[in-house]
Amino acid sequence: MESIVIGLILFPAVISGNLNYVLDTKYINVPLDHFSFANNLTFKLRYLVNDTYHVERGPIFFYTGNEGDINLFAQNTGFMFDIAPYFNALIVFAEHRYYGTSLPFGNLSYTSPKYLGYLSSGQALADYVYLINDLQNRYATKELWKVPVVAFGGSYGGMLSAWLRMKYPSSVVGAIASSAPIWQFKDLTPCENFNRIVTNVFEGFGGEKCSRTIKNSWNAIRSVTKDDTGKVMLSKLWNLCTPLKTKDDIDNIIDWLTNVYTDLAMANYPYPVNFLAPLPAYPVREFCNRIQQNSYDYKNDTDILNSLGKALQVYTNYTKTTNCTNTVADNLGDSGWNFQACTEMIMPMCSTDLDMFENNDWDFKKYSDDCFTKEGVRPRSEDVPILEYGGKF
Ligand SMILES: *[C@@H]1O[C@H](CO)[C@@H](O)[C@H](O)[C@H]1NC(C)=O
Ligand SMILES: *[C@@H]1O[C@H](CO)[C@@H](O)[C@H](O)[C@H]1NC(C)=O
Ligand SMILES: *[C@@H]1O[C@H](CO)[C@@H](O)[C@H](O)[C@H]1NC(C)=O
Ligand SMILES: *[C@@H]1O[C@H](CO)[C@@H](O)[C@H](O)[C@H]1NC(C)=O
Ligand SMILES: *[C@@H]1O[C@H](CO)[C@@H](O)[C@H](O)[C@H]1NC(C)=O
Repeated sequence: MESIVIGLILFPAVISGNLNYVLDTKYINVPLDHFSFANNLTFKLRYLVNDTYHVERGPIFFYTGNEGDINLFAQNTGFMFDIAPYFNALIVFAEHRYYGTSLPFGNLSYTSPKYLGYLSSGQALADYVYLINDLQNRYATKELWKVPVVAFGGSYGGMLSAWLRMKYPSSVVGAIASSAPIWQFKDLTPCENFNRIVTNVFEGFGGEKCSRTIKNSWNAIRSVTKDDTGKVMLSKLWNLCTPLKTKDDIDNIIDWLTNVYTDLAMANYPYPVNFLAPLPAYPVREFCNRIQQNSYDYKNDTDILNSLGKALQVYTNYTKTTNCTNTVADNLGDSGWNFQACTEMIMPMCSTDLDMFENNDWDFKKYSDDCFTKEGVRPRSEDVPILEYGGKF
């Protein structure tokens, strides 16, 4: 597999047109580089505020934004709105630099490592500390000179809220870090764990037949697409927007499928969401139901792929309005995350016979080479996140 990044983290796909939570949009000028005096540049960091439940001397609930447009996270973190009234809390969602509209160099931000180099979790944490300080000054009263702040976050945003508390204990009194894989780094967690957990979700919600069909599909895809006729056939069968032509295209579609299954497991909520894609409640169960319904006892590879194609519609076409299946994710969120994954966020992942994914070793050298080819950067070493955040200290 050619993948440099396994889809651990949550990318924005579609933001629902029906926004439920209302917040004011604000901006603060923050230093481009918190850690040097090489330049004095600043940029506008976006953040969202809802003060409906805030009462003087109440705390600040501060969401540490992930790798995407902050509105997406504000619309999917109802927990903060649910509990804010009980705490008289001010609700704040801060956008992560280089995502959404918080682009330090506007549309140049992604054009070269010269501009992109200021994208790091460390700089993002420093942005949050800077904004927290500003909010604390603004909301301070005579009786309460330092407003207590609690950080919230999920996934990569959860890692940031945990790290904010660990690195800057004077800024936040606590952190609620949900689904925050701060141990998904070198030698802290076996590299196969993540994929085994995703597989468990499919077995739990869809049965063993579902995960077995997926496991068998990798060979089916590789063998059917060996020749051009097969590539054309699969492109038609799955209504692909970009027909399969090369060996790389096959690797890419396998990466894409891997991400789809991972997203389905991550978004396997008991209610419909429009987070990674518009999805029904328990999308894994729905996906696996469609596999069973369309099972033709899998006499051959084409049967497997046909069945899978129908099931994939849960993810790609739940709204029934998709004209073709887009397997090329190409938004800012993805490019930004790929850069982060190629510099700091090196999360070793692998798959074995014990999970439903195509077998794949963790090979840091290969990972680094892929990063260089695709992103023009290499991680300094696999130890970076451990050195920066302490691992299990
Ligand atoms: C804050 O959010 C609540 C809950 O969604 C909403 O009722 C309220 O109108 C919002 N406040 C503002 C100022 O937008
Ligand atoms: C940054 O600003 C200070 C104060 O305005 C100035 O003295 C200094 O030369 C500036 N530094 C750079 C690198 O431009
Ligand atoms: C950035 O935007 C400006 C003005 O909107 C435009 O002239 C320029 O071509 C854009 N540059 C790139 C690299 O997209
Ligand atoms: C899908 O195709 C229909 C009919 O050809 C067209 O009206 C519609 O705009 C297309 N939708 C998208 C998202 O391309
Ligand atoms: C999406 O679903 C609609 C309705 O079932 C169907 O007409 C359309 O072909 C599907 N799109 C794709 C890409 O399969």
